Amino acid sequence: MNTKEKTLKFLFGNYGRMDVCFTHGNGAYLYDTEGKRYLDLVAGIAVNSIGYNHPKWAEAVSEQASRMAHTSNLYQIKEQADLAEKLASVTPKGMTKSLFVNSGAEANEGALKLAVRYTKRGRVLSSLNSFHGRLAASLGATGQTKYQESFEPLIPKCFDYFNFGNIEDMKSKITKDTAAVIIEPIQAEGGVQLASKEFFKAVRDVCDDNGTLMIVDEVQTGIGRTGKWFGIQNYDVVPDIMTLAKALGGGIPIGAIVSTPEISSVLVPGTHGTTFGGGPLACAAASATLDIIKDEKLVQNARTLGKKWMSDLKKIKSSDIAEVRGLGLIIGIEMKTHANDVKEHALKNGILVNVCHSNTVRLIPPLIIDENDADKFTSLLSAFLSKYN
Ligand SMILES: Cc1ncc(COP(=O)(O)O)c(C=O)c1O
Repeated sequence: MNTKEKTLKFLFGNYGRMDVCFTHGNGAYLYDTEGKRYLDLVAGIAVNSIGYNHPKWAEAVSEQASRMAHTSNLYQIKEQADLAEKLASVTPKGMTKSLFVNSGAEANEGALKLAVRYTKRGRVLSSLNSFHGRLAASLGATGQTKYQESFEPLIPKCFDYFNFGNIEDMKSKITKDTAAVIIEPIQAEGGVQLASKEFFKAVRDVCDDNGTLMIVDEVQTGIGRTGKWFGIQNYDVVPDIMTLAKALGGGIPIGAIVSTPEISSVLVPGTHGTTFGGGPLACAAASATLDIIKDEKLVQNARTLGKKWMSDLKKIKSSDIAEVRGLGLIIGIEMKTHANDVKEHALKNGILVNVCHSNTVRLIPPLIIDENDADKFTSLLSAFLSKYN
């Protein structure tokens, strides 16, 4: 049996997989079982920010694996404490405490527990069209019914929703029982939707006025992707709680809840925890990832290359492009009809892109890509769309 046959026979069918299987990667490129090379503008859905096979990351992970992959949060863990210190050197002011988990959804679930316990309140406000994960509370926070359908019995009833970017709507939904507003700096799965600085500042003010905590979900936008360490820093707003995952581990699963000493203090021993969270292997991988991002100035690269790339993409003359939008190296090209055709055409030509929200081609490449890589996709897209003009 080949991989596809085994997948059909032995795996759940919950993923719609493309017909390609990769054996290894190097830098921003992946290689399939036939030896064909692909420029990867998906990065494992915004995970592989330092690219593949980075020698410093591979060495740190191998070294840690050869000594000890897992102990327990029953004990002191040097790699976890070192990572928390490193993270605290880049997080927004005052956000010096971390709790490590294993995924984005898990980080959001923990953040919601933290907010409810800290405020002693019972409701949470989220935005329509958001995505916060697929566990019970994170699914409730996700403001898209398509993800919730048939799972309603499991979803807590504590969520209210407002229109992303709409200050008046957000204000009208908040009450003195709202423990937290949870929001993405950019609605990534929702089609790379942006809101104004004014909107994020209003969320901060409304939270302050109501004693509500502001949780910013940086699972996709964090760790340099938007051209700042954290997406919310583009709006000069400091949240109360931030959640991270995806790029943090450079490919090894790890998530984090980040907050202030005061807020985090309510999670006393016994209130929250996870067996694997903050294990030595994942923390060594994440520490190496943060070092590489700093040393190689990848946040700056995301900012400057992203700006240039977006301006080039906007110059493509095609009646099929509805809008190009984004920040740093998260770019959405909203298409009127041909989003999936672009994806298939790019795959045939050795470039991986992904479509989100059914009509938006999303570019979330490794932050190490250069102008030549970006140009390859711009030229391919321009040539492909010219036949529809
Ligand atoms: C903003 C955001 N939050 C949460 C999640 C869920 O993360 P995970 O798939 O690691 O549970 C995602 C995943 O795409 C995401 O984009």
